[in-house]
Amino acid sequence: TKQLRVICLIYALVFLVFLLFVAFLGYCLYIKHIHMKYDHIPGPPRDSFFFGHTATFWRIMNNDENIYDKSVEWAKIYGPVYKIYILHYVILGVNCPEATKEILMSSKYPKDSFYKRLSNLFGQRFLGNGLVTARDHKQWYKQRRIMDPAFSSLYLRGLMGAFNDRAEKLMSKLTDIADSKAETHMLNLMNCVTLDVIAKVAFGVDLDLLNNSSPFPKAIETCLKGMTYYARDFFFELKPTNWSFINEVREACRLLRKTGAKWIHERKTAMGNGEDVPKDILSQIIKSAGQENINNHIIIYFSNVLIHFCICIILGQETTANQLAFCTMELARHPHVVRQEVDDVIGMKQDISYDDLGRLIYLSQVLKETLRIYPTAPGTSRELPEDMVIAGIHIPGGCSCFFSPYVTGRLEKFFKDPLTFDPDRFHPDAPKPYYCYYPFALGPRSCLGQNFAQMEAKVVMAKLLQRFDFTLVPGQSFDILDTGTLRPKSGVLCSVRHRNH
Ligand code: HEM
Repeated sequence: TKQLRVICLIYALVFLVFLLFVAFLGYCLYIKHIHMKYDHIPGPPRDSFFFGHTATFWRIMNNDENIYDKSVEWAKIYGPVYKIYILHYVILGVNCPEATKEILMSSKYPKDSFYKRLSNLFGQRFLGNGLVTARDHKQWYKQRRIMDPAFSSLYLRGLMGAFNDRAEKLMSKLTDIADSKAETHMLNLMNCVTLDVIAKVAFGVDLDLLNNSSPFPKAIETCLKGMTYYARDFFFELKPTNWSFINEVREACRLLRKTGAKWIHERKTAMGNGEDVPKDILSQIIKSAGQENINNHIIIYFSNVLIHFCICIILGQETTANQLAFCTMELARHPHVVRQEVDDVIGMKQDISYDDLGRLIYLSQVLKETLRIYPTAPGTSRELPEDMVIAGIHIPGGCSCFFSPYVTGRLEKFFKDPLTFDPDRFHPDAPKPYYCYYPFALGPRSCLGQNFAQMEAKVVMAKLLQRFDFTLVPGQSFDILDTGTLRPKSGVLCSVRHRNH
């Protein structure tokens, strides 16, 4: 009987290997079938039949290079639409303005499976089915309707005091730095100020990161980095060398979730007890959710939505900080006429008003031009449920389309001398770029925090230009670090001096 058992085991193993072989063969045939559908679309040669272009992505990520520079190169070679394969997934890089308009402006094209992956990060609940990640239009709209009033221009006007106040804290920090003739990484300071602002205006919390240390900035960076690896490298978790980093990412996610949940819980309790609560974004959202008649059975769902929303707006600060750092870098490279406008509009006064912001027209152009060359949120993607034609090429449905303002912003066909920093491209009389400039995405799923971010950026930049001269410490690179969002690799090391008025 022992012999019989061994024979049975061998048969079972052989059968299992056979099944695996058949499944593998079936999967290969499936890949072949998919590739045949898309082979007529131009694109770079794949590294292997099975993994497609995965090896190229690994090479770029391992060398700490920027994936978007490769996409610019591909767009130049292969034109308005090119294909990339990863296993059986097909991703099209689209830089055709008409298709960008048609797809991004419509609610017919849901966000693709990339966003589904972000609901969890390495098994830890992360963005859930929240505002950024929701793929179903109805589910997304339900949330957006509740969040929208907190970002209306009427409401944002009321935030000018907080913007001024937190930016003043940055100015006193810079005064100390200028007095001591020290050098400073502007990116770090910008990160502190944008986080201070959101903590205050959204959650009524004083973090004062310029004077207190906090695990927050590091946790945000770790989450974003984790997001990039998790989304781009399907095999990342399998490599034991990555396990300690993965644990760090899980820990960072937990910290963001726990903090968000705590802030929400405290606020709801205070509101429930009829206490006076700050008139901030959180109160506003809880109030508008109340008006939506949220009943008990979806209250848990709504709590989750709020937590995901918290994480998402906390992450949103990083893109603003990076924009401010890139902007400082460009202005330090080319001392700029923008200073004259700042002097004319705000002179020596401390409090910048909402109306002043409207008069800082050239500064708006500078900020827009910064996001053209350095779109800190470099892309978005959509699923194509049905066949369509892009730039005269028939595209079978069932693939993903990737849209990147980094790519279009750096193509000569859309912007002459694309690497030259020239704010006059956005002069009020200049022709508007046609669906090739979209740092905040476009259409229904565009950035909720766009106006918030640009008001805040203007207040900080205007004060900085009003009071300080800043020059770049020589010898640093102008490279871009891709950690999901884009940031200056050097951290923008500056020496800061008081201005002679
Ligand atoms: C310079 C700064 C910013 C840039 C460049 C930026 C860019 C973007 C982009 C490209 C998207 C679309 C994402 C996608 O399709 O995957 C987005 C969505 C979003 N952003 Fe921003 N963002 C910035 C600042 C902010 C800030 C400060 C907040 C919050 C206060 C914020 C909140 C959001 C939210 C909630 C969404 C999801 C919108 C939806 O799907 O309904 N963003 N942002």
